[in-house]
Amino acid sequence: MSRTPLISGNWKMHLNHLEAIQLCQKLSYELARHRYDQVEVSLHPPFIDLRSCQTVIDADRLEFKLGAQNCHDQSKGAYTGEVSPSMLAKLDVSYVIVGHSERRALFNETDEFIAAKAAAVAKAGMTPIVCVGETLEERESGQAAAVVTTQLRGSLAKLTRASFETLVVAYEPVWAIGTGRNASPEDAQDMCATARNVIDDIRRGTGEHVRIQYGGSVKPANAHELLRQPDIDGALVGGASLDAVQFARIVHAAT
Ligand code: 13P
Repeated sequence: MSRTPLISGNWKMHLNHLEAIQLCQKLSYELARHRYDQVEVSLHPPFIDLRSCQTVIDADRLEFKLGAQNCHDQSKGAYTGEVSPSMLAKLDVSYVIVGHSERRALFNETDEFIAAKAAAVAKAGMTPIVCVGETLEERESGQAAAVVTTQLRGSLAKLTRASFETLVVAYEPVWAIGTGRNASPEDAQDMCATARNVIDDIRRGTGEHVRIQYGGSVKPANAHELLRQPDIDGALVGGASLDAVQFARIVHAAT
């Protein structure tokens, strides 16, 4: 089964809309000779930058996919400060990150809420990138696989079978995020293989279709080793995605 790798840049709470336009343009220059049939690329700017990035992508016919970092599970209503999946779909957003560990830890998002968001994203015609990953304490106490299994069972609970065909899961060990300390390629492969088995157990026969990204201090220097692992189908990149040259090198490492 060949799965096209997906390299996603999670810009987190960085760049205003003018800076976002600049980064799109720099990336288009760096990736000008890139073959998008071999590696897919998605960019996940802050909400307020989406319209600007969409306009650049559209006008310059760039082949990046637009992504969001979060959304609400309801399509409209009295949810001050929130953004709905249908609003994102209207902006040509293709991928929505849900359940990032920062949202789980800082905004108390539960597996149940994440499951509702993932289902709402899929229902609106986009693909959820569902994030899972253990803390350092959980890893050191031998709980990593159990934690990720519980997160997957909870967070994927409301997705239809058809949604599993296009689903993306990101394994991001919390201790590797923004620390400069990535999981070893072997450990990352082990956990991604475990995740694939769990996914297949949830919906038989879908494990081989689901793309599983690794995230956590992915840099040009470690991208190749991580991306050549059989169960790692791409990367969810934080810090290095803010630098066009570094991000492009990670994209190239996937080919
Ligand atoms: P870093 O690449 O900065 O470690 O961030 C990873 C991440 O959280 C991507 O979602």
